[in-house]
Amino acid sequence: MVSVPSVKLNSGKSIPVIGLGVWETAQDVAGTIVSKALDVGYRHVDSAACYYNEQEVCEGIASWLKKNPSAKREEIFYTTKIWDPEHGYEKTKKAIEESLEKAKSIDYIDLILVHSPQSDDERRHGTWIALQEAVDSGKVKSIGVSNYGVKHLKELLAYPDLKYRPTINQIELHPWLARPDLVEFCQKERIEIEAYSPLAHGQRVNDPKLDYFAKKYNKTNAQILIAWSLARGFIVLPKTATESRLLPNLQSIDVKLDDEDVKTLNSWDEHLVTGWDPLDYPLDSEKKA
Ligand SMILES: NC(=O)c1ccc[n+]([C@@H]2O[C@H](COP(=O)([O-])OP(=O)(O)OC[C@H]3O[C@@H](n4cnc5c(N)ncnc54)[C@H](OP(=O)(O)O)[C@@H]3O)[C@@H](O)[C@H]2O)c1
Repeated sequence: MVSVPSVKLNSGKSIPVIGLGVWETAQDVAGTIVSKALDVGYRHVDSAACYYNEQEVCEGIASWLKKNPSAKREEIFYTTKIWDPEHGYEKTKKAIEESLEKAKSIDYIDLILVHSPQSDDERRHGTWIALQEAVDSGKVKSIGVSNYGVKHLKELLAYPDLKYRPTINQIELHPWLARPDLVEFCQKERIEIEAYSPLAHGQRVNDPKLDYFAKKYNKTNAQILIAWSLARGFIVLPKTATESRLLPNLQSIDVKLDDEDVKTLNSWDEHLVTGWDPLDYPLDSEKKA
């Protein structure tokens, strides 16, 4: 079984540096794929309210824990996210309750992220206050954001009632999308970066530019891409619903890219966004301008 190291968040909690993404993982396979992932060594799963598989993912974790009584709930890290229409204090409180209800088989949620900044200044603020209260309740261990640009992070860090800083910013990152300014800002502020769509949503796994590196390290193209995220110091979230890909993706942990090769991969940046790009979503002051 592969053992994946963890990093410490500014909340004091530890998070394994590779997590299984479950966006587009259908409800009827989510529990099984999560259980198989735990069998080979994954200890971190990344879901969201809008993936419509929170309950199945949590039940997959719970049933695996039952089958493996020597393993403890605390060894597994489960993330979910508050979807954009649920921004604002009251709506987010309700959304947290709903996610907790879906996670009742595993008792608590390790991390809740604000899925994106797409609402308005007041509602983003209310959402953060509701999340801070969830941490105080003990049912949510850490909170963070996703798809936040520098301006959204600056806004959050300046809240007068800020009690908990964001632990994480989860953003799309791969060699074709490097976001150097945002990465530098997060690292300076001790906000860990999670790289989503590390395989460019599967679109660049067969890019012939990867062949040289795959040959040099005797690894697959996907393993080179996951290893690049790790070499950059990111927590990385490859998704697969294919059982045979679970282990090789996780084994990327053993791939140590040379500094020169990391630099070469960094140079491929072409701002390729494979999903959505809410990082420039306007603040209220920009909307009025
Ligand atoms: N916060 C956000 O806004 C946001 C946005 C996007 C993603 N995410 C998170 O990040 C996770 C990963 O991102 P993603 O799902 O966009 O894409 P990804 O991990 O970059 O790529 C997934 C695609 O690559 C395929 N794949 C996986 N392993 C492979 C391998 N070894 N060789 C060839 N193909 C492989 C998968 O197919 P199979 O499944 O068929 O194997 C799937 O089609 C998501 O699941 C989600 O948890 C977050």
